[in-house]
Amino acid sequence: MQQNLDKEDIVFFRDNGYLIKRKILNPKLMAQARDRLWDGAPAQLDRRNPSTWVGPFLESSEDKMNAQNNYRWNYREPGSEQFMVNLLPKNPSIWGMAEQLLGEGTLVEPDRIRGIYCTLPYGNVEKKASTGCHVDAHPFHLGVVGYIDDVLPEGGSFMVWPGSHRTFYYDFHSQYKNEPTEQYEVHRREFSRLPGVDCHGQAGDIIFWHHRIGHTASHNYSSNIRQAILYDFTKNDLPETMEEPPNENMWRDWVGITDD
Ligand SMILES: [Fe+2]
Repeated sequence: MQQNLDKEDIVFFRDNGYLIKRKILNPKLMAQARDRLWDGAPAQLDRRNPSTWVGPFLESSEDKMNAQNNYRWNYREPGSEQFMVNLLPKNPSIWGMAEQLLGEGTLVEPDRIRGIYCTLPYGNVEKKASTGCHVDAHPFHLGVVGYIDDVLPEGGSFMVWPGSHRTFYYDFHSQYKNEPTEQYEVHRREFSRLPGVDCHGQAGDIIFWHHRIGHTASHNYSSNIRQAILYDFTKNDLPETMEEPPNENMWRDWVGITDD
């Protein structure tokens, strides 16, 4: 059944810069994506033997389409396959909710998603402090992260710093490009001293996030591989609006959001 955002969801997203929606992804397509992930696994990892999933990678891979380094595995190759596009941005609920926020008929049609981004379990190690937050550099409007397998608390979730989008939006010379002002680094350090919100969830859950929210991929102290898929929604008019300075009304380009 198709899901929509209600008024509360939209206000939560506006004020916090992110929003979790549960049980959205199609289970069959998720299973297909998990199978596809293992096609790209190095010999070190055995799907049937979870003890082999603990990182780090013994050998790193520089191949951008299947990058493996330390505990991170960014498998971008399947991102261009149609079923992956159908799994995330073209999921009818996700597409509809993105249009609710940004405006019906305004979104660029996706030809790929970023890929499957994994974090290997850290194993039995002492817990480290969070690495702190960052803002993504490339121009887009609305990010969506989907989990294709369960992500327990402290299991490598997408971690966000609620409300930071309202500060970081004004810390760039332009609305969407990567031209930080000097304030960006100052604010980044300030937010990073605060705890982020661990957006853990189950297979099928998604997180919408504002393009200027502070976030990070958190540490994975679970025994499962954190498996997330990512897509960045952009509007058709991005080339025209991208270089404009930040607007007094930061929601000007968001048809579904009013700032009151
Ligand atoms: Fe990021």
